[in-house]
Amino acid sequence: MKKLENFSIQNKRVLFRADLNVPLIEGVITDTSRITAIKTSLKKLILNKNKIFIISHFGRPNGKIVDKYSLTFILPTLKEILNVNNVYFLKNLDREAIRKTTEQMKDGEICLLENIRFQKEEENIDLEFAKKISNCFDVYVNDAFSVSHRNHSSITGIPKFLPAVAGNHLVDEIDNINFFLIKSKKPNMAIVGGSKISTKIQLLNNLIKQFSSIAIGGAMANTFLLANKKNIGNSLVENQLTNEALNIQLKAKNFNCKLILPVDVMCGKNIKDTNPIKCNVDDISSDDIVLDIGEKTIKLINQQIVNSKMVLWNGPLGAFEFKPYDTGTNAIAETIKLNAKKLNINTLAGGGDTVSAIKNTKSEDGFDYISNAGGAFLEWLEGNESPGVIALKENRFS
Ligand code: 3PG
Repeated sequence: MKKLENFSIQNKRVLFRADLNVPLIEGVITDTSRITAIKTSLKKLILNKNKIFIISHFGRPNGKIVDKYSLTFILPTLKEILNVNNVYFLKNLDREAIRKTTEQMKDGEICLLENIRFQKEEENIDLEFAKKISNCFDVYVNDAFSVSHRNHSSITGIPKFLPAVAGNHLVDEIDNINFFLIKSKKPNMAIVGGSKISTKIQLLNNLIKQFSSIAIGGAMANTFLLANKKNIGNSLVENQLTNEALNIQLKAKNFNCKLILPVDVMCGKNIKDTNPIKCNVDDISSDDIVLDIGEKTIKLINQQIVNSKMVLWNGPLGAFEFKPYDTGTNAIAETIKLNAKKLNINTLAGGGDTVSAIKNTKSEDGFDYISNAGGAFLEWLEGNESPGVIALKENRFS
């Protein structure tokens, strides 16, 4: 795979795939890390007098022009973070419009292209479309690890027609995640949360083979509790996956991986219930909903963290958006923050909700690396190389 860090691109028309799919609440960007992440690559390209066209998706407009998914909102923040005076914006992706803008642009200037998912050809991986866009540029840079798990035209199509290199951030993401998978120091621990076991089966199956222990929390733990014949009341559960949960338990045993399941929980009558009931997993009432792990479980997980050499975290351990059901997630973030550096524990976290929880508790310092990828992070941990990365590796242009 060619890497931007050791590749010289000068005075070229560069098509730069970024992931500007940033979280937006009532028009305010709540996390700019995906913009900050592309800064190093862009700075190099700017210094080398390239004309840079940033291509990105935002949301899921399904191949149609949907105003609320326009990327115009990001222009001021993009300018500010990249510290540039001007960023052009191009609504149309046709060759003539791109050619005209390229002529207007000075060396080292940037143009942002409108949301690529407004084009129906993007998600349908249309090679004609990819070729047409590619014809307007000299080089393609992919600095969007977080969307490289998608087999989309701007990810896997364009590298078939242009010299393609990996941006610094994409390389950083891969190196950091691989460090945990390939150079793992034992005992190592994974903390896996989130609401659905269905989205984490492959992940658990892969991690079991490589980790000394896995702590499971969030609503996905309910499926394990039910599989172990616990009454889980009205809790969120995937009934059809109880056998899968038992298989995972068995596999963990075979691989000598200790599974830490909740032994106690915090329940409410609904997610807004601010008078939680704390109980052991054997005492959950039929009208209760499990919304967080309990104190004994927090203690078990914390003990395992401080006895591990590496800790990987993906997924909150409770309904952390609603107080007090953020208790477990926050406690784990705090433990990592207080102990990781002191005890020389390598730490990695990823996934949108996990990153929000880390930010809420200002625990960023406790992590060696925080991936800004969600699905791509998960798929990589599942052992699947992203199609976008494969496309870069297979790129034959020099
Ligand atoms: C993400 O936010 O995980 C990436 O931008 C990919 O978005 P997608 O899940 O809509 O493809």
